[in-house]
This record gives sequence, structure tokens and C-alpha cells, in this order.
Amino acid sequence: MCGIVGYAGNKNVESVLIVGLACLEYRGYDSAGIAVVDEDEIIIRKEKGKIKALEALLKEKPVKGKVGLGHTRWATHGEPSRINAHPHTNEKNTIAVVHNGIIENYIDLKNELQSKGYRFQSSTDTEIIPHLLNDELKSGKKIDDALMSIYKRIIGKWAIAVVFESEPDKVFFAQDGAPLLIGKGKNEYFLASDLSALIRNCDEVAYLSSKQWGFFTKEQFQLFNFEGVKIEAEFKKQELKWEEVDKIGFPHYMLKEIHEQTSIFRRVLEKRINDKNEIEFTELIASKEFLTKVNRFVIQAAGTSLHSGMIGKHYLEQFAKVQTDTDMSSEFRYRNPVVEGDTMIIAISQSGETADTLASVHEAKAKFLKVISMVNNVNSTIARESDAFIDTCAGVEIGVASTKAFTAQVLHLFLFSIYLARLKWMITDEQMKEIVDEVKTLPTKIESILQRASEIEKWAKDFVSSKDFVFLGRTYNHPIALEGALKLKEISYIHASGYAGGEFKHGPIALITSDVPVVCIANKSEIYPKMISNIQEIKARNGKIISIVTEGDTSAKSMSDYCFEIPDTHDFLSPILSVIPLQLLSYYVSVARSCNPDQPRNLAKAVTVE
Ligand code: F6R
Repeated sequence: MCGIVGYAGNKNVESVLIVGLACLEYRGYDSAGIAVVDEDEIIIRKEKGKIKALEALLKEKPVKGKVGLGHTRWATHGEPSRINAHPHTNEKNTIAVVHNGIIENYIDLKNELQSKGYRFQSSTDTEIIPHLLNDELKSGKKIDDALMSIYKRIIGKWAIAVVFESEPDKVFFAQDGAPLLIGKGKNEYFLASDLSALIRNCDEVAYLSSKQWGFFTKEQFQLFNFEGVKIEAEFKKQELKWEEVDKIGFPHYMLKEIHEQTSIFRRVLEKRINDKNEIEFTELIASKEFLTKVNRFVIQAAGTSLHSGMIGKHYLEQFAKVQTDTDMSSEFRYRNPVVEGDTMIIAISQSGETADTLASVHEAKAKFLKVISMVNNVNSTIARESDAFIDTCAGVEIGVASTKAFTAQVLHLFLFSIYLARLKWMITDEQMKEIVDEVKTLPTKIESILQRASEIEKWAKDFVSSKDFVFLGRTYNHPIALEGALKLKEISYIHASGYAGGEFKHGPIALITSDVPVVCIANKSEIYPKMISNIQEIKARNGKIISIVTEGDTSAKSMSDYCFEIPDTHDFLSPILSVIPLQLLSYYVSVARSCNPDQPRNLAKAVTVE
């Protein structure tokens, strides 16, 4: 998704902006640009493609200055091109704007501006902003009033940054629903849409809330609401460490993050399970009583987070005995769902910024429902707008394909379900001990899978030319079949579909030929014999079987072309283990096909537009 950086200080603005933009690369983008305020003019440099292309342009045509803005664009309105790249300016080049999000009423505003004679260069919604500002200033308004007037006119979820030739020391910024934060240095201020762009340079950051705007120079910072009332910004020490956003020797972030799962599980279990072997959610203390009265949960999420939510449904129904529905957030918001006052929403989002999931939180609030979110970014908009949030503690996830955040979500959904079941006296002390003992073995089991990653790496070359893949699983592992397919297609561009084993013969089995690898998750469980039937049906049609089985398995293994053994655990914990070989499979197939797993085409790390 798009990224914003801004700077006012004594350093060379060109390098500060480029370094900041490079830190935002992981979010996904197709063009990049900067605006630098020189003494008497605004200089724009922008280019289609990677930041390297912009750097090459800057080498050819360097810029000098101490104040400026930068942007990485992920195309929404208009193709990726130099013209559509940000910053956008008014005709006289005296105002430059970068923008994240979408302006929903841009067509009306564009028509209005065109009827007044304004000419547009790009196909973007962003370009209306410098023209609107130009129009307001032309009518005699001061810059502050012009800005406040347009904030009320542009509808949607957005964040912007603006520089004016007439105010060469200042960077102006505003947000209404899209993240933006300010970093404070020594005689310098920074602006960014994501913390990762600030950590190298500032210790203190302040997150903006919706409908806030302001400006900074190198020495001064001011914040207001959209009515012009001054607000005290709360600068806090930022805790993110540089190692957390470094590859520390791994060839890709995705592989680093897959390998981090062992330490994350150790850390989470230490934090969530106390000395008395009870599960703790200190952040939910205020909601405890309400939680025991919830009659129905509706889980809201998208993509990989939706798959963890699907496993969460099993957990909440199985252990806490609360009816639970899992719903795509993009659908929930538009179908006027039936909900009662004792329904609670659980919004799951790694980034905490996904536009659809945020909108479903707003929809829930409009229906007076309580919302708990489960996020990996506790400073995110979704966390801030929920009644309570659970930190999944996975650390910053940079690879676009979600891996460690997914398993951390599943673990938290499991722990939350057991926590709730205990609150409701539904689990005895003996059962609790048995569950906790088993869950504590997970880090070692994950580690043992990762130690055998090379087994899967060897398979990858056999699938370089595959066109289609099928993934099958049942009950707890049905969402893992969906997740395995999503992971493979997003980073290797091989078409892949996941199905519940039982549904397979109702249509998808028609896909099977000797060219179609079928990944069957056939761990030890009550439905193991059913998965064996699936495998036999595929074998009978010459399908190629890749099975994920429990160690010691013989039946599924004997029928498989490729087989990976995962350590024995309860069926309900098996998705945490079975997903890891599938993450590795998609990673190694992607690399074998010379794709970049960290930055797959067309994808963005946080989908902040609808
Ligand atoms: C896939 C992936 C996406 C996200 C989805 C929701 O690997 O990462 O499907 O899971 O865009 O994102 P969050 O969890 O940030 O709301």
C-alpha cells in the first residue's frame, strides 16, 4: 500500500526521504517520488518502479533542501506510471501533496474543479487536493483555513502531507482514518505512515488520531483538530528495535519470519501462562464479566487473518461453547447482519489497518456491539477503535505473505477460548493441566519442523512448472488447506485452491490429473480415515500426493509421492504445526521460480483501501 514520509531538519532531505521510503518498501508499491522545498521553489522527482529507479533519477538530477515529502504509490486510480506517481502539484507547482487512502467523492470534486478551468495531469484522486487548495487560496483564504476547509470536503479514509512554496520551512499533514505518525529528533521532525520508517532516526513518536492535522518545522510542532482547536500531542518512546526490521542473515524476511515462530511461541506462552498454569489476558480484566455473558461471537477478518478466525470458530465453540461465526469483513459491512446486544465482535488483523476490517469495526459500533480486536500492531487504528485489544506479540511482520502473525493469531485464539472456558467453569483443573502441558510443547515441536526445512526445499524444484495445486484438509485443518493455497498462489503465482476434504468430490475432484499436486493434511485425528479416503480417490485418478502426516504414520505415507511428518499433538493444536511445512513449501517454490516472496506482484502488506 501507499507510504508517506516527510522531514524538516538540518540533514540532507533527499537522503532522509529515500531511506524512509526504502523502509516502507515492504508494504508493496509500484512507483515512488519526492517533493523538496528549495529556497524559492518546490522540486519534484518521481519515477515508476522501484526506489532504485527514483535514486537513479536523483543521481542524474539531484535536489537540495531541508524540508520535503516522499511517497510510495500502490495504484488505485490510474495505472502505475511516472505521471500518476506522487507528489502531485497545482498548475503553478507551488503546492505539492502526497496522499494515502482513497477520496471517495473525487469525481464530483474533479468535475467541479474542471468546470472552473483546472487542468489535470494524472488519473489519480490525489491530484484534486493541490487544485482544491489552490482554489481556496485564490479565494483569499490563509493556508490554515484553506487546509481546514478541504479536510471537510474530501470524503473517505485518507492521510495527506503537503508543502507550500510560500511556507518553505513547514510540512503540513492531516489524517482521517489512515495512519500517520510524527517522529521527534534533535532539531528535526519526521512524518511517516508506518513506524518502520522512523526507527533509525527518532526515539519518540506520536500517533495521530482521525480528524487531526498540523504542521512542523525543524523546531516546532503543532497539532489541531479539524475545527482548529489546538491539541497536545503525546510523544512516547518508541520500542521497535532495528534488528526487528532487519533480515539478520536470512535471504528473505519471509524465511526469517517463518523461523521466528519458535521464539514467538516461547515468548507468548511465558507471557500468557502464569506460575499457577492459568491463562492470563491482563488487557481483558475490565471485560471479564461481559465476556462470560456473550452469547455469540462474530469474527471479522480478511485473508490469512480470516483463516485464523476460522480456526478460532472451532476453538470458541468447542471449548467455550459459544456460537461463533466467522465472516469476511468486506462482506459483513454491506449485508446488514443480524446481531443481538450479547453478540461480541472479534476483529483479527495483523496490521490493524485493513480497511475492510476497520469498516466492520465501525459497523459493529454503529450497532452498539462490543469489539475486541486481536492485532499485531497495538498502536494501530483497529486497536485504538476497539473496546479492548489483544496483542498477538508476533513482532513486526515485513514479508507480505503473513506467516508468524498467523500462527500467533491461532495460538491467541486458542488461549482466549480456554481462558473464557475457565471463566465459565467449563474446564476442570485436570483438563487444564493437560492442555497447558501440551501447549507448552509447541515451541519445541515447531523447532523440530523447522530443523527439517531442507526436506521441503528439495521438493520445490519438482513444482517449478506446476500450473495448479489443490490443498485438502478437514475440521481444524480445513482453514490450513485454504491458507496453504493462499500462501502458494500469492508468492509463486501458481493457481491453488483449498477445499474441505468432504467437499472435494462435489466438484473440485474434476481438476485432478497427473499434473496436479494435491496437498493432503492427514494428521492423526478422528477424521484421519476420511482423509485416507480422499487420498485414495486422488490416487485412483493419478493425482500427485503431498501429505502432511503425524510422525509414525504409515497408511497415508505409503500412498504419498511426498510426505512430511509433523510431531504428534492434539488434533485441535495440529493446525499450528501443519501450516509450517506449507509456509515452507510456498516459500521454496516461490524462490525456485525466481519470484520475490517478500514483495509479490500486485500485493501490499496492509490493505488500507477498500
Ligand atoms: C496473506 C496476507 C493477507 C492478509 C490480509 C489481512 O498472506 O497477508 O491475506 O492476511 O490482507 O491483513 P491484516 O491481517 O493486516 O488485516
